[in-house]
Amino acid sequence: MQPAIRITTASAPGKVILCGEHAVVYGQPAIALPLSDLRATATIDDAADATLTIVLPDLGETWREDDATEHPLAVLARLTLERLGMARPYRLRITLRSTIPIASGMGSGAALGAALVRALASHYGQTLPPAEVAALVHESERFYHGTPSGIDSTVVSHEQAIWFVRGDPAAVPPRQPLIEPIAIGRPIHLVIGDTGVRAPTHLTVGGVRERWRRDPQRYESLFAAIGAISHAARAWLAAGATAELGAALDRNQTLLEQIGVSSPVLERLIEAARSAGALGAKLSGGGGGGIMIAIVDPAHRDAVKSALVAAGATRVVETVAR
Ligand code: PMV
Repeated sequence: MQPAIRITTASAPGKVILCGEHAVVYGQPAIALPLSDLRATATIDDAADATLTIVLPDLGETWREDDATEHPLAVLARLTLERLGMARPYRLRITLRSTIPIASGMGSGAALGAALVRALASHYGQTLPPAEVAALVHESERFYHGTPSGIDSTVVSHEQAIWFVRGDPAAVPPRQPLIEPIAIGRPIHLVIGDTGVRAPTHLTVGGVRERWRRDPQRYESLFAAIGAISHAARAWLAAGATAELGAALDRNQTLLEQIGVSSPVLERLIEAARSAGALGAKLSGGGGGGIMIAIVDPAHRDAVKSALVAAGATRVVETVAR
């Protein structure tokens, strides 16, 4: 008799960075929120032959791990199977789907990774704590991304609002990241506008590094000013002070413009949201394109959404952080 085919599914949310992006790469704190309505899902089933196949229906791709050994998802699957103590040959098919827009700053890559790790663990009857899921996803991101801070992999793996300060694996002794859950005193209503412009994070991060090398003093002081905004935002979040939080986001946007990661299309959407009554707005994530976020009171939510569409947003999403 054929053994029964086992099917296992797990998912992980998208994310937005509320404040502190880019500066977080240089050791400043940042705040990230999960987007629980937008998710990546991994489904694992036992394959009849001795292969590890990855299927990406959204992209129309199917490939074998040994034909694409450097693909980040292949790297992550291997790292995870090793961590779970599973030996080759692998007889698995991993199908990955996502409702999170790709390369937009909503964490699609990290969410796919976290879903994959969780599904593989559960397929073998194991559970990995969120910090281990995050560490595996981070390791695979490092493989193709250079120097990600780890904030994306952390927030999607913990699925809660987090305060994040990056670790430093090169320090002696290596420094672990600081990850703390954030208190939210009153629900925060966010509207997210997608510019539709795909801007890979490693390019904007690389641009900032280049400019930081040329003028470290100026950039360190801009990063410190962004870090101070993260501290203020944490206090306003805990106090439920949405107007003050909105103003902090506006100040963060000005600093992001000064470090050169904003763009005319982002600024058009940010201005449209503010004019329609948002309490504050900024780009979120790598910038250059991707998404912007606006804090709104519920009474202005629909006006801000319409203003973003009118200003050219290709997609508008709302979420509530609690
Ligand atoms: O993945 P994104 O586009 O949301 O951006 C990540 C945030 C950065 O601070 C720009 C980079 C990083 O690794 O933290």
